[in-house]
Formats: sequence, C-alpha cells, structure tokens
Amino acid sequence: MEVLRLSIQNSELKSKKGEGLVKEKALLKIDGKNLELPVIVGTEGEKAFDIGDLRSQTSFITYDYGYANTGSCLSAITFIDGEKGILRYRGIPVEQLAEQSTFVETAYLLISGKLPNKKEADQFSKELTEHASLHQDFKHIFDGIPSATHPMAVLSAMVTILSGFHVPSGDPNKQNESEVRKFSALLLSKVRTIAAYSYKKSIGQPFIYPHRALNYCANFLHMMFSLPGEEYPVDDEAVRILNLLLILHADHEQNCSTSTVRLVGSAQTNLFACIAAGICALWGPWHGGANQEVMEMLEEIHGGGGDVKQYVAKVKDSNSKVRLAGFGHRVYKTFDPRAKVIKAACDRYFSKRGVEDPLLEIAFRLEEVALRDDFFISRKLYPNVDFYSGILYKSLGIPTNMFPVMFAIGRLPGWIAHWKEMRETKPPRLGRPRQIYTGPLKTDYIPVVKRS
Ligand code: CMC
Repeated sequence: MEVLRLSIQNSELKSKKGEGLVKEKALLKIDGKNLELPVIVGTEGEKAFDIGDLRSQTSFITYDYGYANTGSCLSAITFIDGEKGILRYRGIPVEQLAEQSTFVETAYLLISGKLPNKKEADQFSKELTEHASLHQDFKHIFDGIPSATHPMAVLSAMVTILSGFHVPSGDPNKQNESEVRKFSALLLSKVRTIAAYSYKKSIGQPFIYPHRALNYCANFLHMMFSLPGEEYPVDDEAVRILNLLLILHADHEQNCSTSTVRLVGSAQTNLFACIAAGICALWGPWHGGANQEVMEMLEEIHGGGGDVKQYVAKVKDSNSKVRLAGFGHRVYKTFDPRAKVIKAACDRYFSKRGVEDPLLEIAFRLEEVALRDDFFISRKLYPNVDFYSGILYKSLGIPTNMFPVMFAIGRLPGWIAHWKEMRETKPPRLGRPRQIYTGPLKTDYIPVVKRS
C-alpha cells in the first residue's frame, strides 16, 4: 500500500479569527487516489479536516479511540481552549457570568443564544414558576421507589416518565418552536423539583411544594430543607453560592453526557428521553459522579488521619488502579477555569462565615502535594471542577450522593441548548460511528452436541 500522505493544498491555512466558517482544502493521497478534504476553520481558529467523503471515496475510516481528535458537530454554544484554560458561553467568559449573572439568566443565554432583556427575563422566570409543581399522579410514582436508590437513578427514571405526562406520542417532530421553548422551561423547573423530592423521599420527610415567591435557587433550597408549617429563611449567601456552582456547570461543549444527549437525539428521540440518557452518562465517576468520589476520598483521608502523601503514593502506585478524584481533564491541560473560581469561592465563603472545614484543609494540601509531584505534572493533571465543588455543596447541607444531581441540574441548560442546536441543523443526520472489527473470521455454526 502506498504511504498515506496528507498535505495542505492552500498554503495559507491561517485562522481567520472572527470571520466565521472558512473552507480551504487539504489533499489526501491514498493508494494513488487523490481526495480533497475541505478544511473547516472555526471562529476561534480551530481547524478540522472534513472527512465526510473519506470512506465512500477510499474505503478508509479514521480510528480515534475515545474521540479525542474528533469533532462530531459544528456548535455555536460554548468555546473551550484547554491549553489556555478558557471557557466561554456564547462568547462570554464563564468568570464574568459566575460573578455577575444568575443561573436562570445563564440558562436563557445558552438555550436562546443571547442574554435576555428585562421583559424576556421576566417572562422566562414566570414560565419557570408556572412549571415548578409536579402532577399529583407523578408524585405517586415516588412511593414505589426504594429509599436507598441513588438519586441519579431516580432523576433519570423520573425525567423519562415525565415525557409520558407532556409528550405522550414521544415524537419530537410534532413539537414546534414554542413547544420546545415550553419544554425547556418545564424541564429546568421540574428537574429541580424532582431532585428535591427525591431527597425528601430518601430521608422520609414530606414533600415540600415550590414557593411562587422564591427565585430558582432559593426555591430549590426551600424544597430541600424546609419542613411543613415552618417558614424557610432564605440565606442570600447560600443562594449566591448555588447560582455560582450551577453557572459553572451549565455547559462544557461535547463532553460525555452532552455527546450522549446529541447522539440519542440524532435518532429523533424526544427531549425528555435524551436528557434522561445524559443524566445516566453524567452519573459515572469519571464524569459528573466525580464530585461524590472527591468527597468520599477526602472523608477517607480524614478518617485515616489526614495523610495526603500516603494517598498520593497510592494513586501513583500502578497496581492500585486508584485515580485522584477531581484531578485531570480530557481538554484542560494547564488549569480548569471553573476549579479556580470555585476554590476562590470556597475561600471567601468559609472565611466570611468564620468556619473551618477540615476537608477543605485536606483538599488544599492534596492539591499542593499533587501539583509539586512529577507524576501529575508530566501528565498535565490539575484540579477540575469537581475537586472543590463538593465542599461547597456540603456547606449548603446537600448530602454527598446528591452531588451528581446538582451537576445534572447545572448541566441541564447545556444539554437542552445542544439538543436544540442539533435538531435545528439541516439536514438532520443519525449519529452512527463505525468500528474496526477485530473478531474471528467467518466461522461455521457448530450444533451443541458436537461442541467440545
Ligand atoms: N489520577 C491519577 N492519574 C490520572 C488521573 C487521575 N485523576 N487522570 C488521568 N490519569 C493518568 C492516567 O492513568 C494516564 O496515565 P498513564 O499515561 O500512566 O497511563 C494518564 O493520566 C492519561 O490518562 P487518560 O485516561 O488517557 O486521560 P483522559 O484525558 O482520557 O482522562 C479523566 C480524563 C477526567 C477521565 C481522568 O483525568 C480522570 O479519570 N480523572 C478523575 C475523575 C474526574 O475527576 N473526573 C471529572 C472530570 S471534570 C468533570 C467533567 O467535565 O466531567
């Protein structure tokens, strides 16, 4: 076989920043055949070869285990530069949103593509308030769920069942623009109520109805922590922290759960079912379940006397298979900007309140030891969003097994925005990767009596 050679035909493959999508061509030579590959350049200068005709023209496919080099879509929602530690939603740096915006406003930004004006913001809040309650029949479903069920299992199951109340036909193509908008608000509002109800159910307390006068985050804390017959005092600082955490989780381009939502959605599956699939993907300890793992790791270190060096040694031992939870990221290779904001928020929150959390101390020391160790430096492993978030969730009173649920509430606007963007892409296309088969060659069937 002739050597596979790829050369850029147009020598000027320079990024044309801000000019939008630009196409140039690369020439691929395989087995004496020439194939022109369009070069796609994103608004921030990211480049990709469009290999759409590769298989039909050459019979080759690409192999990219874990998709680290594969762009699965064009997207105008979120920009990440992992080398520089940049994260922007619709162009706006996440640090600015964390400082100045609210989760609801950020959700609107992600889903609608722009920040809302006053009238739009009021209308959106009104829609969220209107959708906060759950149907009485829906609430009865909670009765059959064992209290020990992980809250992520409850959330994904309940979101799928929610489709039965709102999209009985299950066909998203029967949903017009305004219905999609309605379902977006409905999901944002109800997922929060379902999360709080699942917590109340797990501790055997009565469900608390959403309060019309409370904003999104205050309402969540109210449903989580108040008791019937008692007035819930809204803690403004807790509301601020919750807004910040949810904003920082709101989107992260083509991560595992968002890609799941898009892939499931590409089969024309309804929004509710796609979100439920995203929740299941997020549950894993290498993705959104990492915040729970971090807390359990910190507790384990604390319980064992607080020796962080011993724990780091265990992580470095290749036989142990233990990873440092909350460290490392597929995209970020210098720092995770979200972790920076959360760490600063932790510092501020605890010093303002004059309280100390021994787990925060352990986290600081763990980070310090790891960042000086060649094992982590050479592999470019830094604290990610999950490293400090659990400490803040804990300070708000949220139990450890609910941490991934908090991540899911935060990520919901991103999932919806991506589902919507995918649905609006013309023509629609089923997501269906290929593989390189490595199994046995054609083998004849042997009846059971003749098998050794
Ligand atoms: N602790 C110890 N070693 C690690 C870690 C870690 N947390 N993460 C990666 N490595 C090592 C890994 O063992 C491998 O080492 P070697 O080259 O010796 O085989 C090397 O670093 C590269 O690992 P990889 O699995 O190829 O890297 P990746 O970019 O595919 O993995 C990750 C990304 C997030 C799955 C991984 O860093 C990890 O498991 N981290 C811990 C779980 C975690 O915190 N997840 C939350 C991610 S942020 C939230 C989100 O967006 O999902």
